[in-house]
Amino acid sequence: MTDGLVWGGLPIAQLARDYGTPLYVYDVSAIGSQLAALRDALCDHVEIYYSVKANPNPSVVRVCVDNGVGCEIASAAEYERARAAGCAPHRIVFAGPGKGENELAHVIERGIGQIHVESDDEIATLGAIARRSCRDVDVAIRVNPRSAAAGGAMQMGGRPAAFGIDEERLAEAVSLVDAQGRLVLRGLHQFAGTQILDARVLVAQWRHAVSLGEQLAALTGTAPHSIDLGGGLGIPYFADERPLDLAILRTELRGLVASMPPALAGSRLLVEPGRFLVGPCGVYVTRVRAVKISRGTKFVIVDGGMHHHLAASGNLGQVLKRDYPLVNASRMGDDRRERVTVVGCLCTPLDTLARNAELAPLRPGDLVAIMQSGAYGLTASPTGFLSHPMPAEVLVDRGKARPIRARGTFETPLVALPVS
Ligand SMILES: Cc1ncc(COP(=O)(O)O)c(C=O)c1O
Repeated sequence: MTDGLVWGGLPIAQLARDYGTPLYVYDVSAIGSQLAALRDALCDHVEIYYSVKANPNPSVVRVCVDNGVGCEIASAAEYERARAAGCAPHRIVFAGPGKGENELAHVIERGIGQIHVESDDEIATLGAIARRSCRDVDVAIRVNPRSAAAGGAMQMGGRPAAFGIDEERLAEAVSLVDAQGRLVLRGLHQFAGTQILDARVLVAQWRHAVSLGEQLAALTGTAPHSIDLGGGLGIPYFADERPLDLAILRTELRGLVASMPPALAGSRLLVEPGRFLVGPCGVYVTRVRAVKISRGTKFVIVDGGMHHHLAASGNLGQVLKRDYPLVNASRMGDDRRERVTVVGCLCTPLDTLARNAELAPLRPGDLVAIMQSGAYGLTASPTGFLSHPMPAEVLVDRGKARPIRARGTFETPLVALPVS
């Protein structure tokens, strides 16, 4: 019998042996459970689009798409991943403050649901592409709201921002879109912040987006086809955090839907969560290389680090550096606790994965697993820093494992410059 961590029906020790460490493991059933719970809370009122940036591994995107969601993308490459995962073009929306002209042309050529315009210049660029290619392009105006999501970890509204067009300029943006000829204004998009754990704060933001939809209806004379409420649904990482209360979300949303103004009759509501859908499915697994005491502090040095998991080191936009939930994955049954600092293998003090964590005693060769690592993990990390190999990624589904990214090698092929 093992007292090691089991993930998706498989012992992590076995996966570490088979695929090596460091290693990301994603459990398919956890994505399904998050989606089912969210669907239940949203009833039939809101459609779900997966925000691909949270975890763009093609197999993870496919799990989401197979579960019936659309995709929110932020680049032409993410568009290709969504399409390769089987997402129909009309179920893709494209947001981002600096989309390239080539990216816009790429998605227009291949077909897309909506493009969320974020600046006057982008409206002009998009209009020119649409006219040149003789195609009508459906757009939504992304609005930078007047107020931020109080209670979220990273605010993207309520202040000067590169994201979206200021709410105060909505009428101007509508005229500019109209003036392009080939752009068809279909709706509105608001993304106010990420990692929101308070359902009431979340729905207050959504209510604001709905009121903006009403303003848009007044400006255009018709109900917008869609109002994209954004993502931002949080998951608990730290000891003092509680999961988003989906029962409250459900009740608050019902209230919002019941009070939708007649001007919005027929408007669809969308959400585009990333973290909530895939965060809980993932663990990042590292192996202890050395344990040492320096001036009274016990350091555990592992073979991974911030180059694979920047967020766990506290360097991805966190104001306070706090520890992700992590465990001694080799000794889950050991109740003893030791206070340790877990560091990665990079030559920088930034590469700290846990500060004064209370863990079952760790020895060289043991596995340390960082939980809640399915979103904003590998691809949100500086993987080139110190030129370590990329970790493998493995998908587990009811006791079966499938590699979905091969481990990198020490040598990355580089193009040699001619010697002058
Ligand atoms: C436009 C947009 N939509 C959706 C998301 C996904 O956010 P989250 O993972 O917090 O749900 C982001 C994240 O930055 C975003 O910028």
